[in-house]
Amino acid sequence: MAISCVWLICFLSLFLGHGVLDQLEASHIVYTNVETLQPASPNQTYRTSYHFQPPKNWMNDPNGPMIYKGLYHFFYQYNPNGAAWGNIVWAHSTSEDLVNWTPHDPAIYPSQQADINGCWSGSATILPGEKPAFLYTGIDPGSQQVQNIAVPKNLSDPFLREWVKSPKNPLMAPTSMNKINASSFRDPTTAWLGPDGWWRVIIGSKIDRQGLAILYRSKDFIYWIKANDPLHSANGTGMWECPDFFPVSTTSQSGLDTSMLGLGIKHVLKLSLDDTKHDYYTVGTYNLAMDRYIPDSGSVDGDSGLRYDYGKFYASKTFYDSVKSRRILWGWINESLSEVDFVKQGWSGVQAIPRTLWLDKSGKQLVQWPIVEIETLRTNRVDSPSTELKGGSVLEISDVTAAHADVEISFGVSEFKHADALDPSWTNPQLLCSQKGASAKGGLGPFGLLVLASNYLEEYTAVFFRIFQGQNKYVVLMCSDQSRSSLNQNPDKTTYGAFLDVDPSQEQLSLRSLIDHSIVESFGGDGKVCITSRVYPTLAIEDGAHLYAFNNGTEGVTISKLSAWSMKKAQIS
Ligand code: FRU
Repeated sequence: MAISCVWLICFLSLFLGHGVLDQLEASHIVYTNVETLQPASPNQTYRTSYHFQPPKNWMNDPNGPMIYKGLYHFFYQYNPNGAAWGNIVWAHSTSEDLVNWTPHDPAIYPSQQADINGCWSGSATILPGEKPAFLYTGIDPGSQQVQNIAVPKNLSDPFLREWVKSPKNPLMAPTSMNKINASSFRDPTTAWLGPDGWWRVIIGSKIDRQGLAILYRSKDFIYWIKANDPLHSANGTGMWECPDFFPVSTTSQSGLDTSMLGLGIKHVLKLSLDDTKHDYYTVGTYNLAMDRYIPDSGSVDGDSGLRYDYGKFYASKTFYDSVKSRRILWGWINESLSEVDFVKQGWSGVQAIPRTLWLDKSGKQLVQWPIVEIETLRTNRVDSPSTELKGGSVLEISDVTAAHADVEISFGVSEFKHADALDPSWTNPQLLCSQKGASAKGGLGPFGLLVLASNYLEEYTAVFFRIFQGQNKYVVLMCSDQSRSSLNQNPDKTTYGAFLDVDPSQEQLSLRSLIDHSIVESFGGDGKVCITSRVYPTLAIEDGAHLYAFNNGTEGVTISKLSAWSMKKAQIS
């Protein structure tokens, strides 16, 4: 009965609930009533032990992450009234270690004309004199998307609990002159300062199917002038949400301040594709004189490009940690449940473990690794000596709390003659992973981990590799197969996959998985490919969860390294 009521509300609100103005298309659907629905008995089975999530309600994008006077600040899109998207404010938490968090009252909420219909995503910039400022998207009384500024009320409060907005807001707005699409103009980046004394910022947008990073410049951070040309654009990609633009070193894993330019520096432009909910990035060159970003040849725009994560990971944002000289990535992991189911659950959305990111030595892609601080939650280490994992075998990794664990495993392969041939038409790794799931026997692989697995393997999520013989080289496929993750038929169980740029005849194949009740964040090839899965087991919960290594190929492989830890609970809410 409850379910059918919620469906009816959703259905009606699809037709009645938009309140869309003539000239504007709806960029976000509000399911009226659902956004304030509170379940009588929220389901806590799938809440996590060490991933960031508020005690209840809806959460989406990470906003304005920064470090201020040695304290990390994290803000996020939050609905204070319910578990569906709506009533969006910037919720706020602080931390000394990016692992344990103290919640504060929302930092930004609708309070002036320029954001009266919502405070959407944006970024922090640290202005000279260590003064943080947010640029964020407000929804104005006409439902137009405009860009606003907010600054801390009291810089001597280390928690920066109160924020004030400029009476000059909005600072950037669609007008009849600038031809900006008023329903596709959002999510300002961290601004960067050129040697010419001008600040620059980009805003996500589109014209028809062309994605745009609209560029603005300012001398004083208040009066912003739109550049004639975007920093970058690409046909056929649709709306660009949550752009992120930052420099990376070509010689070191250290991060760089967002305004750094010069020799030994490349730039990364990340875009969140509204149409497919994928975050892709390119590596390229920033030409300051022209204020244009040009991706390197081979670094392609759009859905077929490089992704931070080939699973669930969206609307991500980096910041420069000036204390530890590293660039840190936050990303939102949304639910794989229907809206009806997550509203019943009473909450929706988790943040991925923050990742340090740097340019791979090939210069062609990024590498990501969970922040080192997460290792403070590791306990009861279990190690296994080097072991042969024969074709068709399963090995239990016992004595860890398999529902919340961290596991690192490496595989060595010495015999390649059984590797299956890679058909040149197999260019879509996700499709290949779904066609050749964990149960499809191959020559070399699938081998990897079965996580959140039940005792008799009625349920498991398989994270694994397959090695193919390509033209003149071996090709490694990494997959996360959720098809058997739950006896519940309702969640989305799409299998994810990517090709991993590692030569298995020269290097071990490493895999790390952070397992946390309903999340599996996996890092292949020391962080060259990341895949995050959201799963909802019914048997593999708490003590019913098990962890296994498996090899369903014909050829044996060696487990050259295996360490697993139980993970303690983080203090989050
Ligand atoms: C991305 C996004 C942003 C927008 C925000 C609204 O998930 O749609 O473009 O600012 O969420 O909550």
